[in-house]
Amino acid sequence: MAGVAEHADRGFMSNTEQRGFVGVDVVDLCDRRCDGKVHDARFLTRVLNDVEQGALAAAPDPVATLWRLWAAKEAAFKVVSKVCGAPPAFVHAAFRVDLPGPQSRSSLGKVEWEGLSVFVSWHEMPGRIAALAWNGVAACGPPEWAWGAAADIDPEPTAPMDILLEKLSERERPPVHSRNSALVRLAARAALARALGIDEARIEVVCGEGPKGHVPPEALIDGRAAPVDVSFSHHGKWLAWAIRPTGPRATQYAPER
Ligand SMILES: CC(C)(COP(=O)(O)OP(=O)(O)OC[C@H]1O[C@@H](n2cnc3c(N)ncnc32)[C@H](O)[C@@H]1OP(=O)(O)O)[C@@H](O)C(=O)NCCC(=O)NCCS
Repeated sequence: MAGVAEHADRGFMSNTEQRGFVGVDVVDLCDRRCDGKVHDARFLTRVLNDVEQGALAAAPDPVATLWRLWAAKEAAFKVVSKVCGAPPAFVHAAFRVDLPGPQSRSSLGKVEWEGLSVFVSWHEMPGRIAALAWNGVAACGPPEWAWGAAADIDPEPTAPMDILLEKLSERERPPVHSRNSALVRLAARAALARALGIDEARIEVVCGEGPKGHVPPEALIDGRAAPVDVSFSHHGKWLAWAIRPTGPRATQYAPER
């Protein structure tokens, strides 16, 4: 897991929310849906504001810059949805991304939306970009995250989907809508167990009511809300997941039953 503790203590306290949330978004640059978007004027006008369009026009690597901007907006939207208590309408251009300058070696920026400010860090490897976003609640622990190829995480890639679903609890299954949607939940649940130091059997990653793919996930310990936020993303062949303590005492858990 890649920690971002070095940045988290630079956070600030939001006026509206004092719980720590995290959002992650991964982009598979080789996915066909990314093809040509950097030249698609209608798409760019819809998702980028004027400043971002200017940054894209001046960027030495426009494709990477476009998907950095996109991933930051998506990751920030996930945080904002939780800060607000429900997802707002997602108007991409209204999520204003403050990118580090082209000469900057920093991978840390900010996304502003309607008076809320969310930190973001970018991570890049050949063929993929991820953005990790978190709200600045200094007392909360730092976010942690990881990513990987679905093919490497799949315990039995040739097994039918039902076999994979059996690894999820009854409460975890309803929001699952694809193999990667199941795999990323398994990866996030294992990460939660490691981070919390408790048996994975006590943890569930569930979703509230709502259309599949549009509801924030929540972590439970022994069926009760865990003091840890969780986020995940799946695109093309890549999966990413992130976790973060929601409060200062989030590392204190009930002993194993
Ligand atoms: C959140 C959203 C941006 C994710 O988009 P995506 O790129 O398709 O998917 P990702 O793989 O990155 O993330 C999916 C995961 O994010 C989580 N998620 C979904 N909605 C979320 C939200 N509002 N907040 C936090 N997490 C959310 C879910 O865990 C989901 O996993 P699942 O699909 O396996 O259930 C998508 O739900 C969306 O587009 N919502 C906005 C729709 C909207 O407002 N439409 C009106 C336009 S005006």
